[in-house]
Amino acid sequence: MTYRPAARLAEIEPFHVVELLTRARQLEAEGRDIIHMEVGEPDFPTPEPIARAAVAAINSGKTLYTQALGLPELRQAIADFYRSRYGVDVPARRIAITNGASGALNLAFACLADPGSEWLLADPGYPCNRHILRTYEGQPVSIPVGPESNFQPTPAMLRQHWNERTSGVLVASPANPTGTLLTRPEISALAETCRENNGHFLVDEIYHGLTYAPKEAPPGNELDAPTACAAGDDIWVINSFSKYFQMTGWRLGWMVIPEAYVRDVEKLAQNLVLCPSTPAQYGALAAFAPETIAILETRRAEFRKRRDFLAPALESIGFRITARPEGAFYLYCDCSALSNDSYALARDLLEKIGVAATPGLDFGSNQPEKHIRFAYTTGLDRLAEASERLRHHFGR
Ligand SMILES: Cc1ncc(COP(=O)(O)O)c(C=O)c1O
Repeated sequence: MTYRPAARLAEIEPFHVVELLTRARQLEAEGRDIIHMEVGEPDFPTPEPIARAAVAAINSGKTLYTQALGLPELRQAIADFYRSRYGVDVPARRIAITNGASGALNLAFACLADPGSEWLLADPGYPCNRHILRTYEGQPVSIPVGPESNFQPTPAMLRQHWNERTSGVLVASPANPTGTLLTRPEISALAETCRENNGHFLVDEIYHGLTYAPKEAPPGNELDAPTACAAGDDIWVINSFSKYFQMTGWRLGWMVIPEAYVRDVEKLAQNLVLCPSTPAQYGALAAFAPETIAILETRRAEFRKRRDFLAPALESIGFRITARPEGAFYLYCDCSALSNDSYALARDLLEKIGVAATPGLDFGSNQPEKHIRFAYTTGLDRLAEASERLRHHFGR
């Protein structure tokens, strides 16, 4: 049998950072101390109340399939969370539990993307989006975004890229790799532009909860980013238990679906995945308990301290942070004062000083060579060590 994968595979790229990770592991096996700032997941373990609830579920035999759209009580718990945390009414029947935000994005594009339909995505952006879209035969169209618009698309940019094949728009707030947010009026204006053009509007809110007050504000003044759920019930909102709830490996997320499409997504979920992980869902029922939220808020404060330490440290070395990093756990830096090839720079930093970061190449084709992403998913002591190594390396 000849090797004959589907043609679409040609357009699905690997994650370039994986190559660096492999090299980092090799170096570690040789005894080198590597500081991991390439990792896109929290370094904290899942909060204990969640783990306890999942173990109890497993021990009491709650290990069979659930409904395709998830446990009704978890869908209700998320609806309650929207009410208590954001003051927004989202009926539980519009909420689907998914296999992470990845599962949600797969279901959304399986539901909406016709072959050849075009979808507008910010560049730089989360790389898997365009590959998931290609898997369902949709066509990603990059909108280059930069500091002028805080690395988020504007209504004018949507209009400029819209044509008769355009089906919709996907944005993220807070965004990966920049950590920038969309304000409430910005979300509404983007939604309105989609409506005017009869297009779908998808908002990825996976980093919600991981937003930080400005550096000057005292701790405890943390504000949540506005949710797109408040900007219309025709918007698809994607979220996850991976980041704020620190459950990356549990593979659990959710999606708020416009009413008319709930049955379509349910049919797809029944066929594509049967249901999300049952023990993970029982664990997630404890995610909204006050004792869990207290743990998560302590960790959010820790992430904020890390950002407030790392951003000025990197800037003093010669990296430029041109976005306003108000959320997630990333600093997307312009490194052109230090190198004209961020990929070579990332390799160099790994080989010479044992600092692993993600080159711009992974996030699109909009000036990737000028940018590198540092994740503050490691402790303050390690971030301090990394900045010392960088300072020494660049002679600053
Ligand atoms: C912007 C964004 N969306 C979606 C995902 C997928 O996350 P998960 O499937 O773990 O929920 C990620 C993961 O890093 C991400 O950064």
